[in-house]
Amino acid sequence: MVRPDPMDTGRIDYHGDGLLESDVLESPYLQVRAWVDDALAAAAARVDVSEPMALHVATVDADGAPNVRTVLMRFFDEQGPGFVTNLRSTKSLELEANPRIAAGLTWPAIFRAIRFRGVAELVTRTEVEEYFDSRPYGSRLSAWASDQSQPAAGREDLERRWHEALARFPDRGQHGDVPVPDFWGGWRVRCDEVEFWAGRRNRLHDRLVFSRTGEGNLADAASWALSRRQP
Ligand SMILES: Cc1cc2nc3c(=O)[nH]c(=O)nc-3n(C[C@H](O)[C@H](O)[C@H](O)COP(=O)(O)O)c2cc1C
Repeated sequence: MVRPDPMDTGRIDYHGDGLLESDVLESPYLQVRAWVDDALAAAAARVDVSEPMALHVATVDADGAPNVRTVLMRFFDEQGPGFVTNLRSTKSLELEANPRIAAGLTWPAIFRAIRFRGVAELVTRTEVEEYFDSRPYGSRLSAWASDQSQPAAGREDLERRWHEALARFPDRGQHGDVPVPDFWGGWRVRCDEVEFWAGRRNRLHDRLVFSRTGEGNLADAASWALSRRQP
């Protein structure tokens, strides 16, 4: 069997469109929205962007050691990017103790990435309930079946718990068949910085950064200053 050499990444020269000050939109909200729409369109066109909303989320633990995992960006509006999760999970406990958070969307196939830094806030219960209702039945059961981040006795134990949830909340095809667990919710990043990275030839990439200068949301252009960083 031929094993790929992990050090040989093929040295792809990135040749995206770049991002210039003259082209960046007037607020971080509009620019994120535009790039997310492009990533969704690329995924729909089956460019190699298979899970365009995959969001890498970094937190720190009580000792200040970083932790990172991938979730799906389920909310994006003027208030910031958000995701749903178990509120007793490691990430949630870390955010309760220290709400500082960083998150990233990375789309290598279109040579783009967005980086968010800020403070995590809980998503409102109404938004969580609306989103939960849109999940497939089986996924709603899994929210009940998993004490996310806790040790698991084995695969069989997880499946037994899922079947217990199935018996407890039968699928009647009705709104609210599976209630939202009180230990399930969402986090949103109230951003202080949003960076747009665009890969360009010879590794001379563009990095344009919106930094917070006021109290407005992501759509309030007056609350953000734009600068460029070296690649
Ligand atoms: C593509 C992808 C999407 C995921 N989406 C979610 C998600 O939306 N919410 C979530 O809690 N975990 C999601 N996970 C699982 C997390 O990466 C992680 O295993 C889990 O949240 C537990 O993390 P924690 O122990 O650090 O809290 C996803 C994993 C992958 C690879």
